[in-house]
Amino acid sequence: MENINTMEAKKQQEIINVLKLQFAEMEEKEGRKKTFHIETFGCQMNSRDSEKISGILKEIGYVETDTEEADFVLYNTCTVRENANNKLYGHLGFAGKLKKKNPDMLIAICGCMMQEHEAVENIKSKYRFVDIIFGTHNIFKFAELLQTRLISDRVVIDIWKDTKMIIEDLPNDRKYSFKSGVNIMYGCNNFCSYCIVPYVRGRERSRNPKDIIEEIKTLAADGVVEIMLLGQNVNSYGKNLDDPITFAQLLQEIEKIDGIERIRFMTPHPKDLSQELIDTMKNSSKICKHLHLPIQSGSSRLLKIMNRKYTKEGYLDLVRRIREAIPDISLTTDIIVGFPGETEEDFLETLDVVGQVGYDSAFTFLYSRRTGTPAATMENQVEDNVAKDRFDRLLKLVQEGSAKSAGRDEHTSQKVLVEEVNSQNPELLTGRLSNNILVHFKGDTSLIGSIVEVYLKESKGFYYMGELLDL
Ligand code: SAH
Ligand code: SF4
Ligand code: F3S
Repeated sequence: MENINTMEAKKQQEIINVLKLQFAEMEEKEGRKKTFHIETFGCQMNSRDSEKISGILKEIGYVETDTEEADFVLYNTCTVRENANNKLYGHLGFAGKLKKKNPDMLIAICGCMMQEHEAVENIKSKYRFVDIIFGTHNIFKFAELLQTRLISDRVVIDIWKDTKMIIEDLPNDRKYSFKSGVNIMYGCNNFCSYCIVPYVRGRERSRNPKDIIEEIKTLAADGVVEIMLLGQNVNSYGKNLDDPITFAQLLQEIEKIDGIERIRFMTPHPKDLSQELIDTMKNSSKICKHLHLPIQSGSSRLLKIMNRKYTKEGYLDLVRRIREAIPDISLTTDIIVGFPGETEEDFLETLDVVGQVGYDSAFTFLYSRRTGTPAATMENQVEDNVAKDRFDRLLKLVQEGSAKSAGRDEHTSQKVLVEEVNSQNPELLTGRLSNNILVHFKGDTSLIGSIVEVYLKESKGFYYMGELLDL
């Protein structure tokens, strides 16, 4: 398997080299470099994929622009909820107009939505100006698809149902120089009954721990101090490898890498968050004090129909054990409102969990019916106005709770990773605490990418205003 993966990476690199020459010639003729723009929707998986595609484009000789007025535009789509799909169609309408002005413009679409047959058919019939369509399993082939399009002059569509391949070692363009996402696994085997992800991202595949460690060492040597390990259910990492290893063991190995100061991960599933992981977090000096632990619903009855494989009591007990081991941990969550059959009693159970746990923040979603998932054909879909009313009540409780809990570090000094110049006030820097909360403070831009000590002068609910401490 490894051989096929390496051979494929080599083949793609050769195509990139050919395109590079071709684009250098074009640049000389036209007196300018071609431009590209990527719009990324959805989760960190997609952001990471976009970095890989951007890496290939830059190596070929494209330069990035911040608007869709570019020679090459790519939409990396998400389909987890209906509104994610609608966003794409809005953008495509705009891109179609741009292409009328610049007929040489290339428009490509990839990502989760392209794994759905109906969406692709819709684009083929209504948005005929699209040049390249590919899915989630073959982004490593992007250079080849671009080359095919340049030669053939016809729309190129390449969508795979699933794959066992894991192709790495291709160009990569990190958005930040000091922090990076690292895929540790792809796909999902959980089939929560509302969720489209297993259908569009395929079966679970863990990367070899050696490859992950190597990648992180290379990142550390390149100045990266914080990594975010990515997977749809990181707790089941390693179970299907030839030499099985647990997620906690992987974390312990990563902890040893010099230069890496902060380790985050996304997303753990409550059903198999082990005591081993809790202990590893407790004993670690690098794993951040933050757990995103999606509950989805507080009703054990609904959790069963959602196929989440834990109960309200089990979840609360898990939270208790986590807090016992790591008292200053920040907990955040995802909650779905209006899942089919949700009654007022079910919903009150959700409010009860939110009240009991005291999340620092929570992403709340209105249930969205995804064709092909078991929940889509359940008969007792909740009426829109009922769901909306519950959503508003939940949001209020979440906001009250986070205003209370998020300010608990006020008047302490904490380590902050400085990330950027504040987008609203250029005199301020913005950084992140270990528990993921933002801090704004005065400081020199040379600090970006380093970890500094900041006194948290004032809590503003969702962020702090701080003062840089000289050490
Ligand atoms: N693998 C992660 C979640 C990935 S999807 C996990 O299991 O926690 C991110 C979030 O989108 C989910 O946690 C869920 O809250 C939400 N979501 C997924 N499908 C949805 C749907 N059909 N309607 C509304 N929200 C949904
Ligand atoms: Fe979707 Fe469940 Fe997999 Fe998360 S664990 S991606 S919610 S199926
Ligand atoms: Fe969306 Fe795909 Fe992520 S459906 S949430 S981009 S895995």
